[in-house]
Parts: sequence; structure tokens; C-alpha cells
Amino acid sequence: MKTNALLEFFFFFSAALFAITTAEIVLDSEGHPLKNGGNYSLSTTDPTGEIAYAYINGEGGLSLAVVVNSSEAGWTTNIISPCATQNITTYSPLWISFLNLPPPWNENPLWVVTHEPEFGEAVMVMIEEPLSGCFFIKPFNSTYSQYKLVFFYEHGKCGHVGVKNDSHGNHRLVVTEDEVQPLVVVFHNETRDEVVASDISMVV
Ligand SMILES: *[C@@H]1O[C@H](CO)[C@@H](O)[C@H](O)[C@H]1NC(C)=O
Ligand SMILES: *[C@@H]1O[C@H](CO)[C@@H](O)[C@H](O)[C@H]1NC(C)=O
Ligand SMILES: *[C@@H]1O[C@H](CO)[C@@H](O)[C@H](O)[C@H]1NC(C)=O
Ligand SMILES: *[C@@H]1O[C@H](CO)[C@@H](O)[C@H](O)[C@H]1NC(C)=O
Ligand SMILES: *[C@@H]1O[C@H](CO)[C@@H](O)[C@H](O)[C@H]1NC(C)=O
Ligand SMILES: *[C@@H]1O[C@H](CO)[C@@H](O)[C@H](O)[C@H]1NC(C)=O
Repeated sequence: MKTNALLEFFFFFSAALFAITTAEIVLDSEGHPLKNGGNYSLSTTDPTGEIAYAYINGEGGLSLAVVVNSSEAGWTTNIISPCATQNITTYSPLWISFLNLPPPWNENPLWVVTHEPEFGEAVMVMIEEPLSGCFFIKPFNSTYSQYKLVFFYEHGKCGHVGVKNDSHGNHRLVVTEDEVQPLVVVFHNETRDEVVASDISMVV
């Protein structure tokens, strides 16, 4: 019930906020619509790299943070909208999670946003004590299927996702209201079911 009330709030809120623009279908790097429930890796420009996770040893012990890493392959995410939509649009509230995380994080793989003292007012995208909210994908440059991520959270606050370096040299994803540039992302289809199926039949 709590979730339903929250979603209702986001539907009204996003409808009011985005009423002047029309919903656009979000496209992956090959120009295909992003599928609700599909698997995607995210690459970024400035900093150039891939969205991945990093271990952070903080006050609360070891946790995972969402980062940009230039030397690692992109970590696959699963992108789900609770809306009954087949193609994800720029109006779809979203939950993003990492696939195939090591235990114990695989039990709670959703990206969540939380306050972290090191970043003052900024809010981190990571896997710990969440603020309630939803992500949205918003256009950045449609020529290159480039998008930015926006997070709507408690008390009607909203910020775009950008990057800040932490004291360990990690490029952490943060939710910020203005002082950081939005992170520009491109979605890569990681649904490889047909490839896997043909590999299996060749082995057999
Ligand atoms: C996404 O990946 C997971 C884990 O590999 C798999 O179980 C799931 O079927 C995939 N989803 C799609 C839509 O391919
Ligand atoms: C989703 O996108 C595909 C490809 O553009 C299109 O054929 C299909 O009709 C779309 N589905 C919905 C429900 O809009
Ligand atoms: C998108 O990229 C093209 C080509 O680099 C550029 O001409 C255009 O101004 C860009 N649009 C935006 C909104 O940045
Ligand atoms: C973050 O670190 C990279 C190198 O690791 C550096 O190039 C960049 O300027 C730093 N960004 C900020 C905002 O400090
Ligand atoms: C990127 O990932 C590699 C391999 O996991 C790691 O060695 C490196 O420290 C990471 N760099 C940053 C900036 O997170
Ligand atoms: C993603 O790639 C798989 C395998 O090539 C393909 O079956 C699927 O249709 C693609 N998904 C989209 C949304 O383009």
C-alpha cells in the first residue's frame, strides 16, 4: 500500500511536471526501444567509462556504490517500470538494479539513493538505506541516443544524476540539484538470449 501511494504520487507529480513536453520512447545504442524489464549496460561520456560498482569501506562497513569506471566492462543492469508499458519512455518511473552481484548484495540489487556525510548535501546512488524515489530517463542528445538520469524523491525534490570523486578516487554517481553536470549515458542491449541458445545447441 505504501508503494502504491508512492507511485500514485509520482504519476501525478511527473504528469504535472512534464505536462508541457510529450513522452518519447527511449532508444538503446542501436536505435531500438528500451524494453521494460530489459537488461542493459550503460556507458558514459565525461567521464568516459562504464557504469559499474565499487566496494566502499565506510562508517557503516563495506557497501557497494554505483560508479563510472574507465577500465572495467559495464555491469549489466535490469531496468523495470511499474507502469504497464512495453517500451520505456521519458515519462516512465524506473527501478534500476545490477544483475549478478556477489552475495550478500544480490539479495538487494536495486540502485538506491542515500545521504552520505562526505558529500554534504549531495545524495549518493548506492545500495544502502534508501530515500524513497524513482529514476526517470530524460533526453540529452537524440542524435547519439544520449540520455541523462533524473531522480525524484521525498518531499517533491528532484535532481539529475552526476559524478563526484570520493576521497578514494572512485567516480561516484550522485543526485545533485545543479552544481554538477548531468552524466550523459547510452544504453547497450545486453539481452543475449538467442546467442546463448545457439551456443548451447552447438555444444550439444
Ligand atoms: C536479464 O538477465 C537475467 C540474469 O542473467 C535473466 O534471468 C533475465 O531473463 C534477463 N532478462 C531479459 C529480458 O533478457
Ligand atoms: C514498442 O516499440 C516497438 C518498436 O518501435 C513498436 O513496434 C511497438 O508497437 C511499441 N509498443 C508499444 C506498446 O508502444
Ligand atoms: C547533439 O550532437 C550534435 C552533433 O555533435 C550537435 O550538433 C548538437 O548540438 C547536439 N545537441 C545537443 C542538444 O547537445
Ligand atoms: C576526478 O578524478 C579524475 C581523475 O581520476 C580527474 O581527471 C577529474 O578532474 C576529477 N574530477 C573532479 C571533479 O575532481
Ligand atoms: C576500475 O576497476 C578496476 C578493476 O576492477 C579497478 O582496479 C580500478 O581501481 C577501478 N578504478 C576506479 C577509478 O574506480
Ligand atoms: C537485444 O538483443 C537480443 C539478442 O540479439 C535481441 O533478441 C533483442 O530483440 C534485443 N532487444 C531489443 C530491445 O532490441
